[in-house]
Amino acid sequence: MAKGDTAFSGSIASIYDDYLGPLIFEPYAQDLANRLSALRAERVLETAAGTGIVTHALLRVLSGGASVVATDLNQPMLDRAAERVASSRVSWQKADAQSLPFPDGAFDAVVCQFGVMFFPDKQKAFREARRVLRPGGRFIFNVWDGIEHNEFADLVNAAVAASASAPASAWQLRCMCYATYTCGLWSPSLCGGDRASMDRWVELQRLATLWTRDVAR
Ligand SMILES: C[S@@+](CC[C@H](N)C(=O)[O-])C[C@H]1O[C@@H](n2cnc3c(N)ncnc32)[C@H](O)[C@@H]1O
Repeated sequence: MAKGDTAFSGSIASIYDDYLGPLIFEPYAQDLANRLSALRAERVLETAAGTGIVTHALLRVLSGGASVVATDLNQPMLDRAAERVASSRVSWQKADAQSLPFPDGAFDAVVCQFGVMFFPDKQKAFREARRVLRPGGRFIFNVWDGIEHNEFADLVNAAVAASASAPASAWQLRCMCYATYTCGLWSPSLCGGDRASMDRWVELQRLATLWTRDVAR
């Protein structure tokens, strides 16, 4: 992971939250929240919380007395999170998951959604998660498997490779749109990387979705 890939700044927070959240991350957030609810944790730490998609899901399942400290390396992501999740049960704090500013044993559970792949020193991040957990506390995280086990990303790759100029199917077109605006977050040269370019691609995706429905009829 290149250093620049962990800089979630500028317009990335709003683009991430508006487009990638609903498209990719919300179902996984619900899954993590469901797993956590079974643990009856009261003091929860979230690392790499991003724009608060998991935080929001956690609040729906945790008991009324539970609280969440939601952390992320990038302040713009947390600013966006604080806008979308207004709750006195959440506190937001900038923190690197590899060096957590919390005492030993401070939490019942640590939660991390799709953050691990961004940590340059994963062992250090895992040690930190363990350190801040009370004895018997749980660390719950998810992470992408290899691309061959990830149908969505695999299709995106194949679609882009096979049909950069003439997509063979609506699904391929949708995948290309996804890839383009995802890549655009990090590679402005691909599609401008600005809001207007993203909106054009999302409109294209909307049209492709309608086309897919037509084809399925
Ligand atoms: C793919 S996003 C996931 C965000 C959120 N968990 C979600 O599910 O929407 C990855 C997040 O990891 C954060 N991040 C990257 N490196 C980090 C680090 N060393 N410590 C904490 N957060 C980090 C980024 O700022 C970004 O918000």
